[in-house]
Amino acid sequence: MASRLLAWYDHNRRDLPWRSHGDAVPDPYRVWLSEIMLQQTTVATVIPYFLAFLKRWPDLEALAGADLDEVLHAWQGLGYYGRARNLHACAGVLARDHGGVFPDDETDLRKLPGIGPYTAAAIAAIAFQRPAVVVDGNVERVMARFFRVSDPLPGARKELYARAAEMTPKSARGRPGDYAQAVMDLGATICTPRNPACGACPWESDCAAANAGEAEILPRRAPRAERPLRRGVAFWVRDREGRVLLRKRPSRGLLGGMMEIPSTDWREHDWNLDEARAAAPFDADWTTLPGRVCHGFTHFRLEMTVLTGAVDDVIDDAGDDAGDGAEAEPGVWSPPSGFSAYALSVLTRKIADHALKGGDDEGESKR
Ligand code: ADE
Repeated sequence: MASRLLAWYDHNRRDLPWRSHGDAVPDPYRVWLSEIMLQQTTVATVIPYFLAFLKRWPDLEALAGADLDEVLHAWQGLGYYGRARNLHACAGVLARDHGGVFPDDETDLRKLPGIGPYTAAAIAAIAFQRPAVVVDGNVERVMARFFRVSDPLPGARKELYARAAEMTPKSARGRPGDYAQAVMDLGATICTPRNPACGACPWESDCAAANAGEAEILPRRAPRAERPLRRGVAFWVRDREGRVLLRKRPSRGLLGGMMEIPSTDWREHDWNLDEARAAAPFDADWTTLPGRVCHGFTHFRLEMTVLTGAVDDVIDDAGDDAGDGAEAEPGVWSPPSGFSAYALSVLTRKIADHALKGGDDEGESKR
């Protein structure tokens, strides 16, 4: 089965910027960078970011020498910013402790920041021709169909991994890196979630789901629990020059190290105005904008109310006392036209758009 798929891949592989050509040895730096970016993100979204990163930081040493803020800024829009923090940390560890060279097996790769089982297997297979078992969502779908696994995900994951292991070439001669990418390409272009193009698939004749007319309904998925709702209040504070206060989030945790519009905690029950005011970075005459900003994170949904207020002074150092007795959070004052200089999350941009429009857009809850 693997050699039939490789023959298909040799004619149909997608030409992606992190892939090597002909017999060229893949560059582990490119393989690693692309695999980190591709987690939870589509190929089409990743390509421009990948090219921009390579241009700016052409090799591991360059990336290890970058400031985290620059890396977060360049990552802006890709989401899941922990990946960017780990990317930078991983480059640092490799440069300092490994002579700037990637380890070439899964076990050592997994000790590095941001490299989990999937990524370690993908790098070992693609960059070092190790017969590692590479299983992402595409591979799970292909295996569920080929073997007609009807148990729902995520429970079926173990079985799908074992099935994938059966199919994976057992030595470098079987081109495990190309095989891994061939299954991914098959999943992305033929064995797609909806309307799979079974007639064009090199595995069709042996695919149990295709033969049973069940390709489209597999894999099954257990219904997902509804994500809980949290609520917060954001403070859109302008100074006399129209500059807006941004502050930096703590370096660890959700959206760590990114700049944001200051806000209260995000909690389950709603905030009343007095509670919110008490949590504001300044005393101001707050106005509540109509509507809320809705945003979906992986594990919860968030609804933010936005309060706008003005401070009378022009504030040169946002770390200073505001002059009205309120202790200010450290941060920066930037006109909205200057926001592009900072690493802002999608949530922060939604809040800024809402404030600039004067409020009113409920609804949209996905990134
Ligand atoms: N998704 C994750 N890794 C990939 C790769 N190397 N090629 C195509 N799609 C991918």
